[in-house]
Amino acid sequence: MDATTHGLKVRDRRSHDSRCWLSLRGVAWAIAMSAQIATPALAGPREQAKRIYERIAGVPPSAAVLDQLAARTAAKDLMGAAAIATDAATFYSVTLKNLVTPWTNRDGTAFAPLNDYTATVIGMVRDDVPFNTVLSADILYTSNASGLPAPSAANNDHYAAAESNGVDLKTTLVATTQSAVYGLPVEATSGVWTTRAGAAAFFIMGTNRAQFRFTMINYLCHDMETVMDTTRPTDRIRQDVARSPGGDSRIFLNNCVGCHSGMDPMAQAFAYYNYDTQRTQLVYTANGVQPKYLINSQNFSDGFVTPDSSWSNRWRTGPNAALGWDSTLPGSGSGAKSLGQELAASDAFAQCQVSKAFQTVCFRSPTSTTDQATIAAIKASFKAGGYRLKQVFQQSAAACAGQ
Ligand code: HEC
Repeated sequence: MDATTHGLKVRDRRSHDSRCWLSLRGVAWAIAMSAQIATPALAGPREQAKRIYERIAGVPPSAAVLDQLAARTAAKDLMGAAAIATDAATFYSVTLKNLVTPWTNRDGTAFAPLNDYTATVIGMVRDDVPFNTVLSADILYTSNASGLPAPSAANNDHYAAAESNGVDLKTTLVATTQSAVYGLPVEATSGVWTTRAGAAAFFIMGTNRAQFRFTMINYLCHDMETVMDTTRPTDRIRQDVARSPGGDSRIFLNNCVGCHSGMDPMAQAFAYYNYDTQRTQLVYTANGVQPKYLINSQNFSDGFVTPDSSWSNRWRTGPNAALGWDSTLPGSGSGAKSLGQELAASDAFAQCQVSKAFQTVCFRSPTSTTDQATIAAIKASFKAGGYRLKQVFQQSAAACAGQ
C-alpha cells in the first residue's frame, strides 16, 4: 500500500470513530437531559436509589430492591446502595457487556456476540481481579452452565451459545487460564490480547500494529493522532514504512515518524503472534518472528529488521511522558506480557478506566472542574486499592446520584 492511502486510511477510521462517538454521545445526552427534566435537582433518597440502580444495572429495580437501596441512601450510604446495584445480574450481562464488546472489534460496535475477551473482562470485574493485569495475565473466564459446547481455541461457540441460551454470566462465569484451556505457553499469555477474540480482531493479517493502536484507544483513551511525537529516534521503524513517501522525506519526518517511532518499538512485543485465518485461532511462535514483521522490506531496506520480541517504550521521555509511566518499571522488555504491564501501569490507563466507568453511569463525560476532581479521587483509590473496577462503578454512581 502506498503512503498516501495509508495516511488517508488512518484519518478515515478516525473520523468514522468520532462520528460513532458523537452519535453515542447524542444518545447519552438525550437520556441525561430527560433524566434532568424528570428528576428534581434535589434528589431524595428514593430518587437517588433509583438512579444508582438503573445506571449500574441498566434496568429499573424491583420494588423490593428499590426499598433496600433507599434504606441505604436514606442513611447516606450511597456506596452501600451502589454495591447492591453491582450485585444485579444485568450489571454483568447488559452494562458491562455493552461497555466491553466495542473494545473487542475494529468497528467499535456493541452489536457483536459474547466472546472470550468480553467474558474475561466481565469475570475480572465480578471477582475484583486487579484490572491492571488485563493486558498481561494468564486468565480466561468460561461459563459452567450446562449444555454449552466446550470452550475452544478455534471457535467462539461456547460464548455464543452462552449468550443465546441466556445464561446468567454473574453466576456461571468461572475463572480459568488461557494456558489450561487453549494450551498456550504461560509466557505467551497476555490478558485480553491473547484471548481468541482479541487475536481475531487485532492480530489478523496486517502487521500487528493494530493491536497496539486499539490498545491505545481502548485502554489509554488515546487514538494515535493524539500521541504523535516526531522527536523520538527513528532507528526502530520497520522497513515497510517508506522514508520518502511520494518522493518527499519531509512527510516521513513530519508525519510518519510521529506514530511509527514510538509505536514500532512497542508493537515489536507482538512479534511471535499471528491470527491464522485458516485454523481460525491464535498462533504463537516462540522465538520465531512472524513473516508479517518482515513484509514490504523493499520500501526502505535500511529500515529496522525485527530480530525478536524485545520492546522499548520511547514515549517515556518527550511529550508522551505526560501519559504517566511507572518509574519502578524498566520501560523495556521482551514479549507482550511485560509490555502489557508497562501500559497498564501508566496513569493514562487508570484515568481511562475511571473516565469510562464514570461516563457509563453518569451519562456525561467528566468535563467540569467538579467532575474532574471526582475522577481524580476515584482514580487514586483505584490505583491504591488494587485496581478494582467494580468499586469504580460504585463510586461513580454514588457521585452522580444527585444531592
Ligand atoms: C497517526 C498515526 C500514524 C501515522 C502518522 C502514520 N501511521 Fe502508518 N500505521 C499506523 C497504524 C496504527 C498502523 C496499523 C494499521 C492497522 O493495521 O490497523 C500503521 C501501519 C502502517 C503500515 C503497514 C501497512 C498497514 O496498512 O498495515 C505502513 C507501511 C505504514 N503504516 C506506513 C506509514 C507511512 C509511510 C506513514 C507516513 C506517510 C505513516 N504510516 C503514518 C499509524 C500511523
